[in-house]
Amino acid sequence: MRRIYFATSNKNKFNEASRILEKYGYELVLFSFEKRELQSTDLGEIALQSALIAYTYVNAPVVVEDSGLFIKALNGFPGPFSSYVYKTIGVRGVLKLMEGVTDRSAYFEAAVAIVMPPFERVFKGSVYGRIADSPRGTGGFGFDPIFIPENEDRTFAEMSVEEKNRYSHRARAFEKLGIWLKSIELREKPMQKELI
Ligand code: IMP
Repeated sequence: MRRIYFATSNKNKFNEASRILEKYGYELVLFSFEKRELQSTDLGEIALQSALIAYTYVNAPVVVEDSGLFIKALNGFPGPFSSYVYKTIGVRGVLKLMEGVTDRSAYFEAAVAIVMPPFERVFKGSVYGRIADSPRGTGGFGFDPIFIPENEDRTFAEMSVEEKNRYSHRARAFEKLGIWLKSIELREKPMQKELI
C-alpha cells in the first residue's frame, strides 16, 4: 500500500477517510496537526494553504481537509466557521438559533487538499439534508447528532462509519481523491511499459 499523510487533529475524520482511501490502495498516516484558521471563507483555499504548511513538516505527500455545515435559514452560517461555532455555542446553540424555523435544510461540505509535488489539488464533496429538532445518537463527532442526510431518518450520529460514508461530504471528497490518485498511477504505467 502507498502511504499518504493526513494532517489533522480529528481522529474521527481520520477514521472515516482511511476507510475510503484503503479501497484505492492507499494507507493514510495520521500527522497530528492543528490547522491555522486562515482569513478565508473558501474551504478549498483554507485546506490548500494548510496542506502547503503541513508539507513543510512532513516532506511527503500530505492531505488536509476543511469542512463546514451550511444552514439555509441562517444564510449558510456557520459554514467556514463551523469549528469555532461548535467549540463556542455547540449543538445546543445551533438548535436554539433554529427554534421555530420550519425550513431546516442544510448541507455539509468538505474540501480535501493534497500536496504531492509537482501536484497540488483540491477535491470537494457535499451532502444535503436537514437539521434535526433535537440531538440523536452517540456516534461520530461535531454536528453529527443534528444532521439527517437526504433519504434518511437517522442522524449521522446514529450511523456506523460505513453508513455515514455512504452519504458524507468527506467520503465524497476522498472518493474523488482516490479516483484521481488512480488516474495518476495509470499515467505512470504506460511509460513503464514503453521502457520494458
Ligand atoms: P474543520 O474542518 O476542522 O475546520 O472543522 C469543521 C467543523 O465542522 C467541525 O468541528 C465540526 O463541528 C463540523 N463538521 C465537519 N464535518 C463534520 C461531520 O462529518 N460531522 C459533524 N460535524 C462536522
